[in-house]
Amino acid sequence: RTTRLTAPALRGRKGATPIVALTAYNATMAALVDPHVDFILVGDSLAMVEHGMASTLGASLELMIAHGRAVVSATEKALIVVDMAFGSYEAYPQEAFRSAATVMAKTGCGAIKLEGGQHMAPTIAFLAERGIPVMAHVGLTPQAVNAMGGFRSQGHDDAARDRILADAKAVSAAGAFAVVLEGIVEPLAETIAAPSIGIGASAACDGQILVLEDMLGLTPRVPRFVKRYGVLGEAASQAIADYADEVRSRSFPGPDHVYKPRG
Ligand code: KIV
Ligand code: NA
Repeated sequence: RTTRLTAPALRGRKGATPIVALTAYNATMAALVDPHVDFILVGDSLAMVEHGMASTLGASLELMIAHGRAVVSATEKALIVVDMAFGSYEAYPQEAFRSAATVMAKTGCGAIKLEGGQHMAPTIAFLAERGIPVMAHVGLTPQAVNAMGGFRSQGHDDAARDRILADAKAVSAAGAFAVVLEGIVEPLAETIAAPSIGIGASAACDGQILVLEDMLGLTPRVPRFVKRYGVLGEAASQAIADYADEVRSRSFPGPDHVYKPRG
């Protein structure tokens, strides 16, 4: 029986070999991902990818727990990190603790992730001191899509760049065991204490993460920072079209796909 990577072990990977991460939302995909990555994020991007919502704001804590439980049950090696739902942690640290403790108890995940920089540092410290490993997420924070005026890359002027760096330093100093840097202009020169996990950030990050369905080529439109490593959307369309043709022409099911009497 293998043991899972832990949050402190991942923290210790700063400066070592690059950290590999992907999202997964369900048991089938998580089982495919598990052998190849250090951690799996059950991202609230599932609101858009899995549930067709226009943003991540509609992902409830209950939804995150249902998907988190599925991913934990289908994996044995990777650290599982579950995103905190919008509205479940921002108001004050005690609320964040209750929400995070519920997620950890009900899913069996090894860590949670929340969005926000300097203003979330006290909450991150509050959780970390109470046994909840926190991954932070700064730069383009999708739960702030309405405040940002869209999904836009961040850090285009010196002030904005300084703010992102200050955010990353603050959450790292508060005890975050890793920091996701999303959608920021290169280079983010100075380094932080916790491992940095890039998505649309920089090759210099300590690790990289992508949304699984994006890199597999299952989603129709992807941001500039996504590299498609597969064309599964095309393969799936073809398979579905072949099935439809064969049902309509009565060539499926064939002799191999029906039960014969035993006797
Ligand atoms: O929800 C998500 O998938 C994420 C990653 C893109 C980092 O937060
Ligand atoms: Na997310």
